[in-house]
Amino acid sequence: MSPSNSILLTGATGYVGGTVLDHLLKSKVPSIKNLSFDLLVRTQAAADKLRSVLGDCVNPILWPGGLGDTDSIIKIASNYDLVINVGSGFVPSGSQAFVSGLAQRAASNPSGPTPWLLNIAGCTNLGDKPLTQTSHPDREFDDADGNAVYEWLRCADEREPYPQRTAEVGVLTAAEATDGAVHAVSLNTPLIFGAGTGLFNRQGIIIPTLMRYVVTHGYGFKLNETANFDWVHVEDLADLYVLLVKTILEREDRGVGYIPSNKNGIIFPAVARVLQTEIMQHCLDSAFDAGVLPRENTPKNKEIRLVGLKEIADEITFGLMDMAEQGWAGNKAQKGTVARKLLGWSPTRLEEAWRNDFVDELEALRDGKRGVTMESCIGRK
Ligand SMILES: NC(=O)c1ccc[n+]([C@@H]2O[C@H](COP(=O)([O-])OP(=O)(O)OC[C@H]3O[C@@H](n4cnc5c(N)ncnc54)[C@H](OP(=O)(O)O)[C@@H]3O)[C@@H](O)[C@H]2O)c1
Repeated sequence: MSPSNSILLTGATGYVGGTVLDHLLKSKVPSIKNLSFDLLVRTQAAADKLRSVLGDCVNPILWPGGLGDTDSIIKIASNYDLVINVGSGFVPSGSQAFVSGLAQRAASNPSGPTPWLLNIAGCTNLGDKPLTQTSHPDREFDDADGNAVYEWLRCADEREPYPQRTAEVGVLTAAEATDGAVHAVSLNTPLIFGAGTGLFNRQGIIIPTLMRYVVTHGYGFKLNETANFDWVHVEDLADLYVLLVKTILEREDRGVGYIPSNKNGIIFPAVARVLQTEIMQHCLDSAFDAGVLPRENTPKNKEIRLVGLKEIADEITFGLMDMAEQGWAGNKAQKGTVARKLLGWSPTRLEEAWRNDFVDELEALRDGKRGVTMESCIGRK
């Protein structure tokens, strides 16, 4: 199969990317089931494993420089009509290079299908800074007006660049500048939970991180009372990618003018909303129910303590203060209208899956499946 009949995907070794690839490979949709997937991966070991487990439906392409190697990205992407960038959303130049490659594709193949980029981003891009700036606890973004969201992101990033937001705005702006030659849509995802189904990393980031904090300290934390998150199960998110691919491949207009794109091109795969304190409460409930807490030196009752921004940045976000504030204090409510209305997306992993995830995450931490074992969390190793 020639590259033009394939889809190019990044992130196959990741939590989201691995699950998206798995759902595409298992899809029974006629336009998808015979496709092959070219996968950009950074190591030979990953390439070998993907090839040996998944066989001919995948073609791993070694990409040692990753998202930092823009020349290679442009060259490679210029062979494709559809790129799914579900690796890290935090490398602006790398993400934008896919648009440049697809623009070359469009120029060299003017009678061919309009190239699309599906690019991942995340809700911290929308977070305010209630601790160091003004708080907007009642603000809700709605992807029904993607252009308003894009403009908000663009202005926010002009004032204060934040890598994942710079990447999101950069991709949409670059695609807009191609005058319709390339279409890009950003999946600005909320908190993602649940077990992934890829071949490599199957764990999320946020619930495991918070569970580890709670078990280590014996209490939860908060930076304020209003921080919120919407959430989506990783498999429901993967289903949305399948729907997008199907829409692009099957519609005569290739989804152009139907799927919002470029400066209107933002989709929120958001299912339900919680306060950060409620997430902490679920972590505490599962740890107390399982008898993991309290320990001898931890609070006897369930506590969510008000802590400092720097402390959380140092412990959880590698010292990055903006990420800590936008994530753990920020208001970033997302109303997801577009995916349900235009694509018929109908998430099935709802409240019960959300609640069960806290039990599963505690168990995974206890069984040493979260990188750090519970023993090391609680200082016994
Ligand atoms: N997980 C969440 O809750 C969440 C929530 C909102 C948004 N997101 C967005 O989703 C993205 C992916 O998240 P994830 O949970 O799937 O992360 P993950 O499991 O850590 O996977 C990251 C993937 O990106 C690849 N990657 C990382 N840095 C790269 C680079 N410089 N060049 C090329 N490839 C690189 C990794 O490849 P290697 O295996 O080679 O390292 C891996 O395949 C995030 O970056 C973020 O933008 C995630």
